[in-house]
Amino acid sequence: MSAGWSWYVLILTLASVAACFWLIAWTNRQRASDAEIAESEAHVWDEDIRELNNPLPMWWLWLFIITLIWGLGYFIMYPSFSEDGGLLGWSQEAQYEAEVAAAEERYGPIFASFGAMPVEELVDDPKAMNIGSSLFANYCSQCHGANALGAAGFPNLTDGVWNWGGSPAQIELAISNGRTGVMPALGAVFESDEAIDEMVRYVQNMASEMDTASPAHTKYMQLCIACHGPTGQGMQPLGAPSLVDDVWLYGSSASAIRKSIVEGRNGVMPAHQNMLGPDRIRILAAYVYSLSR
Ligand code: HEC
Ligand code: HEC
Repeated sequence: MSAGWSWYVLILTLASVAACFWLIAWTNRQRASDAEIAESEAHVWDEDIRELNNPLPMWWLWLFIITLIWGLGYFIMYPSFSEDGGLLGWSQEAQYEAEVAAAEERYGPIFASFGAMPVEELVDDPKAMNIGSSLFANYCSQCHGANALGAAGFPNLTDGVWNWGGSPAQIELAISNGRTGVMPALGAVFESDEAIDEMVRYVQNMASEMDTASPAHTKYMQLCIACHGPTGQGMQPLGAPSLVDDVWLYGSSASAIRKSIVEGRNGVMPAHQNMLGPDRIRILAAYVYSLSR
């Protein structure tokens, strides 16, 4: 929070506390005069209950006063007047770091013992898979979905189809270093809209038949083969997906395929090594590996 805002809040709060003190003092001074009692004859309920303007009962008043003093105590103990954290020296960051350190102390050894195990063994350990599942929910589900089923642009991790490779080592690498798919925008390379449409049809039919006589085939062999391979099987070191497996990262419709070709695609899987460290990544890799088996 900027200094201006912090002063604004500070002054507003102190003024409110002062106003509460004044209100308590003021209501406490009012006594029902005889004249008021006489006048209040007009306000009698249920025969003998009279409405008077009397002070609050003392115990109630004291509750208010104690609350206000408690509030002022907070001001002094916690950061309010200065940035240095008040008398207690408290700060959000320090509390967060202390909690992280406590969690690390508690779970660190568990993570470390799992982190030392190979993925193939971890997948058979129900406790490790439980931890993997909650790590996945925390760090991965926002992109890959709660059940890892993915969405347009975010790969399904349960179908056994891998753009970058599905071995434990490749999965671990994907999580720690991240992955960036680069499909170049090739719209400008085609001489006409029809030529693009033809290429889209060619890609859609590739799985069943490769029309080697078509001009699109010649274009494919010039423009696409380097990454997607001669039969459209893809190339894992580049993250180039297979075009013949009927699994589509961006959708199977003609318009989705057209967009991929014309505008290119740049899927980014962020690197997690700094955030998670090697032990958690090993557990996550095992969890992801287990999903597709
Ligand atoms: C430089 C390598 C490269 C070249 C050349 C290339 N691609 Fe791609 N292509 C990729 C990569 C990598 C992806 C995945 C992009 C991502 O992960 O975001 C991709 C994605 C695609 C997709 C989307 C696939 C899906 O699952 O949704 C289609 C369709 C496609 N390419 C068709 C083509 C065609 C047709 C050509 C030739 C005209 C071509 N590509 C040329 C690397 C390439
Ligand atoms: C910000 C979104 C995002 C988050 C968070 C994210 N991913 Fe990804 N992930 C992606 C995208 C996008 C790709 C596809 C990259 C590409 O286009 O090739 C991907 C690809 C992958 C791949 C490679 C899939 C393949 O087919 O080879 C794996 C494995 C993976 N993610 C696992 C995870 C795990 C485990 C986590 C949690 C630690 C995670 N991801 C968190 C967006 C994300």
